[in-house]
Amino acid sequence: MPVNGRKRMVTITINKNQYLAEEGEIFLLTAMRLKIDIPHLCYEKALDPYGSCRLCMVEVVTCGKTEMTPACTIKVHNGLEILTDTPEVIKHRNILFELYLAEAPKSEVIKEMAAKYGVTKTRFLKKIVHD
Ligand code: FES
Repeated sequence: MPVNGRKRMVTITINKNQYLAEEGEIFLLTAMRLKIDIPHLCYEKALDPYGSCRLCMVEVVTCGKTEMTPACTIKVHNGLEILTDTPEVIKHRNILFELYLAEAPKSEVIKEMAAKYGVTKTRFLKKIVHD
């Protein structure tokens, strides 16, 4: 909560490293400011978080357990612990990139983003539905 118009800074942990971050800020924005790379397609600062592309999935650690959650729907709070590069996160992200490549094979945005994460091919076929 802002105190005297100033954001309160809290301590969070990302990939086992501690950082100061603004309480209440969307975690995806915090990560971007800290230069921690998380792919994302649907987040738009001017809109409420929608969480539809699922490319920004990270693992939230709570009491030693992890839960996959879109980074654009997480609000920063003191003690927040996030993992952005686990094998589960990478596997999830790569499958999504393959699905997007199948869905939009001509999209340069998707191709470039997927290639940045090492995904250049898809094993999925786009299903064409006829009336
Ligand atoms: S940016 Fe799309 S779900 Fe987070």
